[in-house]
Amino acid sequence: MKLRSSKWFGSKDRDGFIHRSWMKNQGRPDHLFDGRPVIGICNTWSELTPCNTHFRTIADHVKRGVYEAGGFPLEFPVMSMGETLMRPTAMLFRNLVSMDVEESIRANPLDGVILLAGCDKTTPALLMGAASCDIPAIMISGGPMLNGKFQGRDIGSGTDVWRFSEEVRAGLMSECDFLEAESCMNRSAGHCMTMGTASTMASVVEALGIGLPTNAAIPAVDARRYALAHVAGQRIVEMVREDLRMSKILTRKAFENAIRIVGAIGGSTNAVIHLLAIAARIGVDLTLDDWDQLGRGVPCLVNLMPSGKYLMEDFYYAGGLPAVIEDLGELIHRDALTVNGKTIGENVAGARCFNRDVIKHREDPLTREGGIAVLRGNLCPNGAVLKPSAATPELMKHHGRAVVFETIEDFHARVDDPSLDIDESCVMVLKNCGPRGYPGMPEVGNMPLPQKILKRGITDMVRISDARMSGTAYGTVALHVSPEAAAGGVLALVQDGDQIELNVEERRLHLAVDDAELSQRRSKWKPPAPPSDRGYYKLYYEHVMQADRGADLDFLVGGSSVEVTRESH
Ligand code: FES
Repeated sequence: MKLRSSKWFGSKDRDGFIHRSWMKNQGRPDHLFDGRPVIGICNTWSELTPCNTHFRTIADHVKRGVYEAGGFPLEFPVMSMGETLMRPTAMLFRNLVSMDVEESIRANPLDGVILLAGCDKTTPALLMGAASCDIPAIMISGGPMLNGKFQGRDIGSGTDVWRFSEEVRAGLMSECDFLEAESCMNRSAGHCMTMGTASTMASVVEALGIGLPTNAAIPAVDARRYALAHVAGQRIVEMVREDLRMSKILTRKAFENAIRIVGAIGGSTNAVIHLLAIAARIGVDLTLDDWDQLGRGVPCLVNLMPSGKYLMEDFYYAGGLPAVIEDLGELIHRDALTVNGKTIGENVAGARCFNRDVIKHREDPLTREGGIAVLRGNLCPNGAVLKPSAATPELMKHHGRAVVFETIEDFHARVDDPSLDIDESCVMVLKNCGPRGYPGMPEVGNMPLPQKILKRGITDMVRISDARMSGTAYGTVALHVSPEAAAGGVLALVQDGDQIELNVEERRLHLAVDDAELSQRRSKWKPPAPPSDRGYYKLYYEHVMQADRGADLDFLVGGSSVEVTRESH
């Protein structure tokens, strides 16, 4: 079988000389250019991405496996995205990184690729980019950090930041304790160890079959993470020889499995946007309504923060994702193919749970409805999402007066103003935080409650926005309102005092303002100015699609041929 890389390394002419000779400056001997599979290791290592700083070590273990199987590994960097440092939000750059991945693969002599991802957006970005190339690929997740430990108890990254900061604002926690917790939360290599977006997406990788079994939960510092990387290195060489490309793994059945598994783990709402974008790249017809239909009736089994109380380390020791998938029984397409050449059903056959408080039984779930609820109504004709397992049951049917914040700056300026006219029955509405409006759709949808309400011991209110929220966050929060305010959605027309009705059971989000009044308001509405007149911001602003389409750039949907015929000299 003649491989793609042979077009670079296989000829005896001037171009072949150039391609091999410069690679030999790294000490590569002749036999590496003998037509063996060339495996790219796409690395999002960066010291600016704390969750991915151990990736050079993972890559070394991948290389062992690639060499062992007779392949030629070549590690290459792509832009990395760290959730905690990047402004205005890492999500703004997910699509940019996907282009980096796609064009790096297309431009270079690669026959297969190992994708190393960890921090939230790195996973979808790499899957999107590689899917548009459709070559053999395995993703290895970086793995979660060890449990946080603070004053004798476990604390979770993200979830306990939100909790502690509200406790400080409510006067229930001292600033001294708050700052001490900072050193106790994130204390090893790895990504957030709650069931936030990174852990959700690592689970999605395993659920889709594009990662090896147990990929989701092995802690980053556990030797078994490195052993998995070694095996993945071996396996990708075989996949190239089998021509087992991504499109044979990422089928409609694989996405349906992933949606149900996100429900069963109480996964992040961010998975909705990312899976819609990945599916569109590989040519699978997936819609927002699929999330609601497929997720209905899927119980949340995994008792992890933010929906429950444990952390990823506990999840791994309890049996990890294979135990969950096995428990889901007929809810899973067991014949879906995975990267190791077996079906997902074969992979999990006989998987056991070792702690029924961490992984609940289907007959005794953490919550009966684990899936993502997709809301509709005049406020979100193209949909909005809400995570029932992280919401307050009493608030899931609610009618309240809108308190509107036009921007995130407006929110910060007024939320703790004692004269703000708000009580716990109100509905907090935040505008202009969608894909175009921010830009980049940041994780600000879980607006902190006003201090005067927190001080009365109230911890949740209905909140609505076109933003996302961190996968580690919780609350009765309607997110991803589409169309967003900055694109002229009805959200832009909501005013203080309007009545809003939320009914999760009926999947309804309704603004009780008649059409004539809305038309009147629309005639006076002016879109906000674009964020920039140059560079990537401009490209993004002009081409980003709404949340219900995965917030990808419109011209990136689908894929290009991986063939590039023109030489560089
Ligand atoms: Fe990287 Fe949470 S900050 S996964």
